[in-house]
Amino acid sequence: MTAHVPAPQRVWDPFVRVFHWSLVACVLLNSFVVDDGEDLHQWLGYLASALVVLRIVWGFVGTRHARFADFWPTPARVLQHLRALRAGRLDQHAGHNPLGALMMLALISLVLALGLTGWLQTTDTFWGEEWLQDLHEAVGEGLLIAAGQHAAAALVMGRIERTRLVKAMVTGVKERY
Ligand code: HEM
Ligand code: HEM
Repeated sequence: MTAHVPAPQRVWDPFVRVFHWSLVACVLLNSFVVDDGEDLHQWLGYLASALVVLRIVWGFVGTRHARFADFWPTPARVLQHLRALRAGRLDQHAGHNPLGALMMLALISLVLALGLTGWLQTTDTFWGEEWLQDLHEAVGEGLLIAAGQHAAAALVMGRIERTRLVKAMVTGVKERY
């Protein structure tokens, strides 16, 4: 590797950044502060789901690195990335790398699953169903575990790639050091 440090690169547009930190706030509030299933919990849960739906639309019409086409984790891309990691080679991507993309898809799917299992609990058909409450709680725990791994991976990969990944989710710009 050379000592050359690549120039900072603008990667995340304002929508992606506002989406990310608003989603984090909704999930953390609903998991730890208003986890009673009451009105505020429901509104925050629907807000999180709406953010994800907008993000999916943005994945088709948004800026370059926000588009699914830019980072869709095809088996070939994931394998290539894993091989590079195993060989100790860096496989840097301006946007999401294939493993980060898989995690992104898992996280947004879990949020939508919470929206669905949460909403179903408010319907006449499923009101009071204990298995649904348990499922909702289990999906919430799964989301927290995945998000913990995701945040840890962002910190570790940032170190390995000498790139300020977390700062980039705030400023939009990836800086190498
Ligand atoms: C970001 C999305 C969400 C997260 C992280 C989340 C998380 C949680 C958690 C951790 C609990 C507590 C489970 C327990 O300890 O019993 C809970 C309960 C509940 N949630 Fe959500 N939730 C979300 C979205 C929603 C939505 C959209 C609705 C409904 C519109 C909803 C309705 C409920 C209800 C009714 C309960 C009470 C269930 C019970 O009585 O055990 N949630 N949720
Ligand atoms: C409940 C917690 C969290 C959820 C649900 C979550 C969800 C997501 C999602 C959906 C993306 C994809 C962004 C997009 O393309 O629109 C993402 C990216 C990202 N998140 Fe999180 N996140 C959480 C917590 C965190 C935390 C605590 C950190 C900081 C340590 C963090 C750092 C990042 C970074 C750096 C990226 C960009 C990764 C890359 O460069 O490829 N996230 N997150």
